[in-house]
Amino acid sequence: MVFLLFVAMSLQDTVAKPYVPIGCFKDTMKEPRPLPKLIENFRGGRLDWHNINKTIDACAQKAKEMGYLCFGLQFYGECWSGPQACLTYDRDGPSNESCIHGVGKENECTDYRILNSADRSMTHHTSGQPKCDHWSHGFASNRWYRFTDKAGEAMADECVQSMRCQTFMSGWMSGTHPEVVDGIVPRDVCFNWQNKSECCYRKTPIRVRNCGKFYVYKLPGNTGCYTRYCGNDVVPVGCYNDILSDRALPDLLDSYRGAINWNDLENSVIKPCAVKAKENNRRFFAIQFYGECWSGPGSQNTYAKYGPSSRCTTTAPFVGMQRANFVYMLTEESECNNYKILDAADRSQFHVTNTAKPIRCDHKRLDENSWYRVVGAAGNAMADQCVQTWRCQTLGTGWFNGTYPKVSDGIQRGNVCFSWNRKCCYKESIVRIRNCSSFFVYKLNNDIGCVNAYCGNGQ
Ligand SMILES: *[C@@H]1O[C@H](CO)[C@@H](O)[C@H](O)[C@H]1NC(C)=O
Ligand SMILES: *[C@@H]1O[C@H](CO)[C@@H](O)[C@H](O)[C@H]1NC(C)=O
Ligand SMILES: *[C@@H]1O[C@H](CO)[C@@H](O)[C@H](O)[C@H]1NC(C)=O
Ligand SMILES: *[C@@H]1O[C@H](CO)[C@@H](O)[C@H](O)[C@H]1NC(C)=O
Ligand SMILES: *[C@@H]1O[C@H](CO)[C@@H](O)[C@H](O)[C@H]1NC(C)=O
Repeated sequence: MVFLLFVAMSLQDTVAKPYVPIGCFKDTMKEPRPLPKLIENFRGGRLDWHNINKTIDACAQKAKEMGYLCFGLQFYGECWSGPQACLTYDRDGPSNESCIHGVGKENECTDYRILNSADRSMTHHTSGQPKCDHWSHGFASNRWYRFTDKAGEAMADECVQSMRCQTFMSGWMSGTHPEVVDGIVPRDVCFNWQNKSECCYRKTPIRVRNCGKFYVYKLPGNTGCYTRYCGNDVVPVGCYNDILSDRALPDLLDSYRGAINWNDLENSVIKPCAVKAKENNRRFFAIQFYGECWSGPGSQNTYAKYGPSSRCTTTAPFVGMQRANFVYMLTEESECNNYKILDAADRSQFHVTNTAKPIRCDHKRLDENSWYRVVGAAGNAMADQCVQTWRCQTLGTGWFNGTYPKVSDGIQRGNVCFSWNRKCCYKESIVRIRNCSSFFVYKLNNDIGCVNAYCGNGQ
């Protein structure tokens, strides 16, 4: 069973064809259906089999009367839609069948490429080999693109710092994202280099389109290396039930109810809540009751425990109403969840190096793209006072001589000193450190020479 799906382009009557085709989608007939409401049935004599356009026009007219933006035709003459149609139409997946002959299949809302890698997020710190959205690096120029998954749900639309999203000059869209009825609109992408020219060191024109539930961007691939289009950092997850006596996300991080700008929930509620969640090192957060910002420890495991709800706004900006959380996920670099372990007992600062065994040298043996956490008998952090030489199964002993960040400081730089030749700091190395609330993680410099190693603070 197949739908031909349209979205109303403009609600003005002056436009000749006030809708555009989106594509063909399956309807498996399972409840809730992708387009739940039969708003008109033109079968039984009211169909002009020679001109299906008349039926489409009539269905569009009916949808418009009812205030619905997306509608579909099924069985040639059934006109289906619903208040949430633009969000649910592809619930059962695209159909590879041709719905009606003569209807163009090429469309930016169905024929786009995906940008989904985590290192494209605006919060990802560039490290190692940078990447470039240039045709010479295999980027297909002037195609339509959609951001999804860990790259974010849209292109960043505020200044992204340089050296983010695995490039040097970070690309972000200036101006606002369009509404569905705006159709295809021109915008500029700014590439930021060290905040010069108001984060707009280079600029390129793009096109943007709101496809109902996501955006697509027509992106040129000629802005040079190293530039890249960066994704935003907040991904909508969905609407979930909550129970007041045992909240799915138990911590009220803040309430904006006293200061909600109803015309701009995005900036008055959702973005400030995202900032709070980041500060508190929470991966998931939710808006409930229009203006309350909720999260909790282990948020990724608890947010959905009472199942999906329908008590949220049905078009963006998404917020929950009473007893419902609209849940978002931060696409932040996940160093607090994704790290390697340093746990060898002989890495402890007090372990006397045993020369009968292999001597530890971390030079070029650590993964410079991974984060590390010290655990077990090695300790629960890096040693942070001068360590004697000939300890931790190495010769030159590495210890952290920096200041410890708070959770809200995010990723900071710090100095590691190596002790050798009676000097506590005969050699230094810059590392990155992040406070993950109950522990620290470190991104370690790999190029430290032999024979040196990083020591734990274990006993
Ligand atoms: C129906 O509309 C499409 C797209 O606007 C057009 O290409 C086609 O010629 C129309 N068909 C008829 C029979 O008018
Ligand atoms: C459509 O997809 C189904 C399964 O996904 C496949 O079996 C079928 O051959 C496809 N039809 C066409 C026309 O490509
Ligand atoms: C750019 O501005 C941001 C926010 O004001 C600041 O945190 C950052 O350090 C600046 N970067 C540079 C390279 O000046
Ligand atoms: C991380 O910082 C918080 C304050 O933001 C502090 O309470 C906590 O003890 C720190 N974590 C560690 C492991 O020191
Ligand atoms: C540790 O760092 C501080 C501040 O950078 C520096 O003054 C001090 O000399 C360092 N400690 C050693 C033992 O070198």
